[in-house]
Amino acid sequence: MLAPLARTALRASRRSLAAPAAARSVSLLAAARPVARAAVPAAAPQQVRGIKHIDFSGDGQIETVYERADWPIERLHEYFKDDTLALLGYGSQGHGQGLNLRDQGLNVIVGVRKGGASWKEAEADGWVAGKNLFDIDEAAQKGTYLMMLMSDAGASEAYPKLMQYMTKGKTVYWSHGFSPVFKDQTGIESPKDCDVILCAPKGSGRTVRTLFKEGRGINSSVAVFQDVTGKALEKAVAMSVAVGSGYTYETTFEKEVYSDLYGERGCLMGGIQGMFKAQYDVLRANGHSPSEAFNETCEEALQSLYPLVGEHGMDYMFKACSTTARRGALDAAPKFEAALKPVFEELYARVKDGSETRRTIEFASQKNYRELFEKETDEVAAQEMWRVGQKVRALRPDRAAKGL
Ligand SMILES: NC(=O)c1ccc[n+]([C@@H]2O[C@H](COP(=O)([O-])OP(=O)(O)OC[C@H]3O[C@@H](n4cnc5c(N)ncnc54)[C@H](OP(=O)(O)O)[C@@H]3O)[C@@H](O)[C@H]2O)c1
Repeated sequence: MLAPLARTALRASRRSLAAPAAARSVSLLAAARPVARAAVPAAAPQQVRGIKHIDFSGDGQIETVYERADWPIERLHEYFKDDTLALLGYGSQGHGQGLNLRDQGLNVIVGVRKGGASWKEAEADGWVAGKNLFDIDEAAQKGTYLMMLMSDAGASEAYPKLMQYMTKGKTVYWSHGFSPVFKDQTGIESPKDCDVILCAPKGSGRTVRTLFKEGRGINSSVAVFQDVTGKALEKAVAMSVAVGSGYTYETTFEKEVYSDLYGERGCLMGGIQGMFKAQYDVLRANGHSPSEAFNETCEEALQSLYPLVGEHGMDYMFKACSTTARRGALDAAPKFEAALKPVFEELYARVKDGSETRRTIEFASQKNYRELFEKETDEVAAQEMWRVGQKVRALRPDRAAKGL
């Protein structure tokens, strides 16, 4: 029986199939690929239903973006009707992508280490041992798509044993370019008879799930590492829709892994912690109270200003603030840019030369890497700034009313 979401999507797809032929969602992908390379005028992006060719910056570089509108659920069912999608690993992505695939009514199974933390999590999410939950080997044997959703370090360890199941006609699916791109470090050689594809959601697996449930869909990128059948890109796009993407941006494995590792070390995670901490510490050193230092550093940023940037852009946020704030911010921005650029340049170089992946593999190969991570993140939680943050958050009117 189809889950409610799948039924809704099915109804929508029926409506779409009832539309006149010209407006119908057809297999544009294969037909449009050569067009994307040859006939798209640089200055006038062409709009094709389901595929867009967009010059984002206006510099003539045309990028390809796929829409889920081209893959209504009936088409997904038809496309994957003979396939078993085997999720190998059940961390954040396994949870999000797996539940979305299941809700879409596709034939999906989970393969994880028996008795491990993920096995328990999969059971808690309703996967049933012997029915759609197996140990990794059994799932890999049954799967026609081997979805490599274990940790990047875990993949290196598990891969040699899994290679026996990567036989002709099967597809190897990654959500990160890490393992195949840095094969000198990971030891991961792609099986010569398989398509090797990527769909990398641009966010946590938890967000992959919540955006799907809200009927929205996360942005993802897709890429092809090896195309044996000539259909690898089509498969990657179909998979991106199947796991819950809304818009899918075409890239390469190399570009995906470089930008992803760089971004999370920079503005997405490492950079914000570093910038918040530096600003907070200077305020405290100058005699400001903990709550004032936190409010002027984190709370106002996260509650008031960053959401405006996300919704409407940086200029909008600047314009929404006072003359005094705007003057100072516009003057300070280039100083931060100049000070930080060398840090970003070093970061990108370390990603590209493999230093960052080496560090990750070495760290995550330790048996007790989870506890070590826990210790370090506990240390962040114990920093005065975030301890203060906990108390300030509790005073937000919506939380205070709930006694949180
Ligand atoms: N999380 C994100 O935000 C995100 C976003 C986009 C892409 N990705 C990519 O998606 C992939 C999965 O990431 P994730 O965050 O979902 O998971 P993760 O937390 O990195 O990995 C957890 C999974 O790996 C398994 N695992 C670890 N070592 C293993 C080993 N030696 N053999 C077999 N299984 C092993 C764990 O099983 P046990 O419980 O049994 O240890 C668990 O199921 C990665 O390639 C990641 O880079 C992640």
